[in-house]
Amino acid sequence: MVRSRRNPVKEVTVDRSRHRTRLGAVHARQATGLRANSFAFWTSACVARVYAKPMREDRRQVFKLIGGLMLSSGAVSVGYYLVTREGAIDEWVAVGPVAELPVNEITMKRLSVTEHGLVTARPVEKVIWLRRMSDDTVQVLSGACPHNNCTANWIPEKEVFDCRCHNSVFAPSGAVLAGPSARAMDTLEQRIQSGVLAVRYQKFKKTIAAKEAVS
Ligand code: FES
Repeated sequence: MVRSRRNPVKEVTVDRSRHRTRLGAVHARQATGLRANSFAFWTSACVARVYAKPMREDRRQVFKLIGGLMLSSGAVSVGYYLVTREGAIDEWVAVGPVAELPVNEITMKRLSVTEHGLVTARPVEKVIWLRRMSDDTVQVLSGACPHNNCTANWIPEKEVFDCRCHNSVFAPSGAVLAGPSARAMDTLEQRIQSGVLAVRYQKFKKTIAAKEAVS
């Protein structure tokens, strides 16, 4: 390289210490800014937390209240269902020879069957009413009054079935004559094999007009 005297090449020297100082100041400012930003963020977060705390607790209380109400109403529903649920009975029982039944008379029989609750089963005794016809067919009626499951009794002198609980009265065929029962006495399925009568004892839903088995 040729150097001219008029335009001497200026030596550029870098004052590294000043440069470092300036850089240091920039970094310091940036760091201070960051710290300031962090501090502002932290402060606002704390303030938000302080102000949000009572709201969060209120909300928690409300959720607890709603949860408690839902749980207690669910428990009440389950308890009501368990208390009011009827046990189901569905069982074929051998009753005896048809020839032993008096013709055209209404005869009571007691059957031992099993009632199935939600988790348990227990033996129970149930009444049925039999009427042997002249052609040796048999009318079989459940003794459980369809109104509310009291036993309907045969009153020979009046020739009616009478339920004393709420005064429902039924004809010999089981048809309703008086009282609150919404349907006739329930007929039961039956079969006669080799002269022996067997009856399917079922429990039917009380109160309602339709004949529906409890299941
Ligand atoms: S239970 Fe028979 S009339 Fe009510």
